[in-house]
This record gives sequence, C-alpha cells and structure tokens, in this order.
Amino acid sequence: MASFCGGLRQTSRGFVFHYQSNLCRQARAITITSYRTTTKAYYPVNRLQPKSNMSTQKAVQISRTGGTEVLEINQIPIPKPQPGHILVKAAYAGVNFIDTYFRTGLYPAPLPFTLGSEGSGTVEAVGEGVTKYKPGEHVVYYGSGSYTEYLNVPEKAISHIPEGLKLEDGAAILIQGLTALTMLRESYEVKKGDTILIHAAAGGTGLVLVQLAKALGATVIATASSAEKLELARQHGADYLVNYSGGEDEWVKEVLGHTKDGEGVEAVYDGVGKATFEGDLKVTKRKGSLISFGNASGAVDPFRINRLGDKNLKLLRPRLFGYVATQEEFDHYTQELFGYIENNQLKVNIHKIYPLEDIVQAHKDLEGRVTTGKLVLKV
Ligand SMILES: NC(=O)c1ccc[n+]([C@@H]2O[C@H](COP(=O)([O-])OP(=O)(O)OC[C@H]3O[C@@H](n4cnc5c(N)ncnc54)[C@H](OP(=O)(O)O)[C@@H]3O)[C@@H](O)[C@H]2O)c1
Repeated sequence: MASFCGGLRQTSRGFVFHYQSNLCRQARAITITSYRTTTKAYYPVNRLQPKSNMSTQKAVQISRTGGTEVLEINQIPIPKPQPGHILVKAAYAGVNFIDTYFRTGLYPAPLPFTLGSEGSGTVEAVGEGVTKYKPGEHVVYYGSGSYTEYLNVPEKAISHIPEGLKLEDGAAILIQGLTALTMLRESYEVKKGDTILIHAAAGGTGLVLVQLAKALGATVIATASSAEKLELARQHGADYLVNYSGGEDEWVKEVLGHTKDGEGVEAVYDGVGKATFEGDLKVTKRKGSLISFGNASGAVDPFRINRLGDKNLKLLRPRLFGYVATQEEFDHYTQELFGYIENNQLKVNIHKIYPLEDIVQAHKDLEGRVTTGKLVLKV
C-alpha cells in the first residue's frame, strides 16, 4: 500500500492534480477532525499525517471551498525540476487576501488545490534550459501553490533576492509591492501634485501604496477602520487620515474636505471592494480614475457603465498578473521595486511570521481585520 497521498503533478502554472490512496483519505479525515474538535488551540495538523519520507513534503491544500475549516495540511510528492523552471526549497510564503478568495471559492480553482501565491527560498535544482540560476542562490517568486516546501517556479516569475534583503522580507513584499507599483504606474500614472485616496491604508498592500505614492510626489488621503491603523498610515507618509468605519456619508464628506474646492481626488485605490465602491464614485474628481483592485469586503455589485458619464470617470479593475505577464515586465517592475527598498523609500512591514501549521490562524487574522502590514508563513 502506498505510504503517501500520491499521484500529484504540478503544471507550469502550479496547479496540482492528485489521486489518493485509501490510507491518504483516512489520514485526511483525521486531519479535518482535528481542526473541528479543537476550537481555540488547534493541533498542528501535520502531527496526524502519515510519516513523511524523502520524496514527500507538507502542503496547505483545500479539497472543497469554504471557511478556514477546509484548510488541510497534506503530504504531497516533491516535484522534479521541469524544463524552464527552477525548483525552489521554500523558506517563507507570503499570505495574501487572494489566498482567501481561492479558499472560499470566490475565485474558482481546480480541486484539490495548493494555496499560496508567492514565496522566497533557495534554489534546489534547475530544469533544462535554465542558465541564470544556480543551486544555493536566494530567490523570491510569485505563482500558484507556494504554501509548500518545494515548488517549481517558471523563470519569468522568479528573481534573485537583492543583497541585504532578508528572505522573510522578500516573501512579504513581492506581490503587494508589485501590485502597488504597477497600479500607481499603469492603472493611473500618479504625478507630483496629485491628491489620491488609498483605502485600507494600513493593510499589506495599503502601506506599500502609501509609501510609493509619497515617493512619486502625491498627496495621500488614507482610510482605515481604527485610530491605531490610521496612525500607522501616517507614520508611513499619509497626509490626511479618515476613519471610514462611521459609514459612507461621513467618510465621503471628510475625504472631499481634504481636496481642492471639494472637487475630489485624481485617483482612488480601492482594495476593499463592495463596501466602499459607491462612495468612491462620489469622491473621484471629474475625469478622475477609480481603481477597484480587490474584494476584502466582498465583490463589487454589477454596475451600469452609463453612470461613469456623470463625471467622465475612468473605472479599472486590474490584476497584477496582467501587468507582469512577460519576463521584461516582471524584471522591470521587480528591479524598480527593489530600488525603492534600497533607497529607503519603501519599508517592508511584517505583521507576524506564522508557522505553516498555524495557517488557520493566519487566514482568520487576515479576514478578521486584526492585522496591519504583511502576514508571512515559515514553511
Ligand atoms: N488586483 C490584484 O492584482 C491584487 C493584488 C494584491 C492584492 N489585491 C487586493 O488588495 C486588497 C488588500 O489585500 P492585502 O493582502 O494587502 O490585505 P490587507 O489590506 O492586509 O487586509 C485587508 C484589509 O481590508 C480592510 N477591510 C475592509 N473591509 C473588510 C472586510 N469586510 N473584511 C476584511 N477586511 C476588510 C481591512 O482594513 P481596515 O480594518 O482598515 O478596514 C483589512 O485589514 C485585497 O482586496 C486584495 O484582493 C489585489
């Protein structure tokens, strides 16, 4: 009988397909029970897994969508290096809101699915055709399936870590840093003298947006749900602070009050989604840009485009991966991002480093709005 959950294959996009032995199904059933029966201090689920051997590794997976109870730690095979790919031994994985969308099913994924979108680690081996990377080098990468110990990363989604940047900081900054940078450069090109609004400004992406927008010369109005979070945004450069938990009428009025003649902002950067979208239309200036780039409060409801004509607004719903789809784009923006860190214009903020076994708590904290900055998993 097989001693592991065998049959997994990882494609170049990182999706996994696996079939399981009966032993593996039993082990997983035990695993899930351990989550359900321990409400406060749940056990590290891998304690109840079949023993690992040299050919298997831990991976956080879902085999159905839902709340944090669907998270599992399974044993899966370690992949072999693929042509054009770098096999990485991971040190850290970044935790992003998008990981919760895959878990809940808001973004559909083939099941079972290994969660995680980015990480950092050491090159273990390289596939055919790869010449730029060598075993032992430190790297940072994005791509599906990073809540694992080993994964194959395509060459166009990986970069050497600059000297002086810690591995945990690399895993913390890549996706949120590139998202903030590409949206400030391409969704709406922020110019010196612009006044822009950044929602959830103390969050992972929010704190990077604030710092980079200041580096580009913008005046920043920051929103968050508490005085402590707003203070953090101020420490990172925000000029005006607005607590948006009092409701739309209140925050809209306050934001407009911080703009010239109450006309509104040149651009809104909104990762909150459903809860703030209607207010965004009110605070965006005539001919301004509304960049709705996330769903932390839920997906924005269907929208009648005629409404944009009231102020000739531009509405964008961008995704990072459309801005860094080619090797040139990824290299260009990654180098620019690292440059801001090297010049001390961008500080990496890690809320907490969680052991992989604490993935349930990490997702709960992120969705529970109790975090600031970035959550990182020690793999
Ligand atoms: N389009 C892309 O390519 C892309 C890439 C990266 C991230 N994103 C999006 O950017 C947003 C931020 O992601 P992140 O990983 O950096 O997370 P985060 O900002 O660290 O955490 C989300 C924050 O959203 C705020 N929020 C408002 N309403 C909420 C609600 N109902 N439930 C939970 N949080 C709520 C909370 O701040 P307050 O307590 O201050 O309200 C919370 O801290 C997400 O929507 C994510 O999907 C998009």
